[in-house]
Amino acid sequence: MANFQAVQVTGNVWWVGAIDWHLREFHGYRTSRGSTYNAFLIIDEKVTLIDTVKAPFFEEMRERIASVIDPEKIDYIVSNHAEMDHSGALARAMQEFKAEKLFCSLQGERALKAHFHDRLPALEVVKTGDSIKLGKNDLTFVETKMLHWPDSMVSYLSGEKILFSQDAFGMHLAGSQRFADEYAKSLLYEEARKYFANILLLQSAKIIDLLNTLPSLNLDIDMVAPDHGPIWRNGEHAWIIDLYRQFAEQQPEKRAVVLFDTMWHSTEAMANAIADGIIGAGVPVEVISLHSCERSEVITRIMGAGVLAVGTPTINNNMYPSLGDMLVYMRGLKPQIAVGGAFGSFGWSGEGAKQVAEALSNMQIEQPLPPLAVKYVPDVAALESCRNWGKTLAEKLLEKINNQ
Ligand code: FEO
Repeated sequence: MANFQAVQVTGNVWWVGAIDWHLREFHGYRTSRGSTYNAFLIIDEKVTLIDTVKAPFFEEMRERIASVIDPEKIDYIVSNHAEMDHSGALARAMQEFKAEKLFCSLQGERALKAHFHDRLPALEVVKTGDSIKLGKNDLTFVETKMLHWPDSMVSYLSGEKILFSQDAFGMHLAGSQRFADEYAKSLLYEEARKYFANILLLQSAKIIDLLNTLPSLNLDIDMVAPDHGPIWRNGEHAWIIDLYRQFAEQQPEKRAVVLFDTMWHSTEAMANAIADGIIGAGVPVEVISLHSCERSEVITRIMGAGVLAVGTPTINNNMYPSLGDMLVYMRGLKPQIAVGGAFGSFGWSGEGAKQVAEALSNMQIEQPLPPLAVKYVPDVAALESCRNWGKTLAEKLLEKINNQ
């Protein structure tokens, strides 16, 4: 039996969450390093639990709480976010800890009732600017709709100056250390980038709004404690906040991604020739085969790329199924790409590249060139056309960057 202990965050605040070492899938996102579900215990006159954990981790959370205080001494539970990775254990926690009140946003009330029906009594709705007195400290709420769900909000603890930020500023990273300064920056960058690309990219505009609004709320923040991954302390939160702004702004970078799948290596040969053309124009390129890279890694690499060229063979009058999967995933996340293009080899009627072009158009990705299609195996002339096609896409990007 594991002996689950709480970890002290500050004098009166404890991490009492759970570590999901083996999680490898989070609604379509491959979480290669697992995750944590962070819950926080505030010891004050009103003992308060901020968020809970995924349902199967209830006992782990309960044991960590019990290492600090009798769980039945919890008075309040705050649900900053209703998604089941944070609320799965909520109804059981309310019932077994005999908490007096549960605080959430208006949308949170709707979401929680739609999940738990009549199993969550004592629900109290709060809105931006509302505060509750816990004793020495106050807890103030700020709604952050669509970060990551309509119900989402963050909670700020005075005294300890902690912003409990739920999904925002988090990452899927299981680990024995609880604080960001205990991890290598390169690892934090990699996982924060992947998390943003796969969870928050669609809401980039709202993130910029939140980042612009935060200073006007006059919250004196010493620490940011998200619901996933490490806690930002000692001023480290400035780093992740800046990084979020950079990711959310999606300024086109001087780099290209050539993404493809291939049936008999003809589309692959086109991809390589297109990449040659892009390099020739002075733009760095990454060639990604969907055979060797899954969708959540691909979207992470696509985020911020100035050029995206997408290649597919045609199979049974359609694009390759792997491209269908990738483009549907991308359509949901809406990356902003300055210059796009579709290409591919075909044998029969060649709908694949046209379908990819249509999918890119539906994502408002500008395509300065028509789809480039080659029948069967590209010859020397066809490969030269691919080089020129890639070069033109890269030049269009450079033009856009120079005109900014
Ligand atoms: Fe970590 Fe949107 O849930």
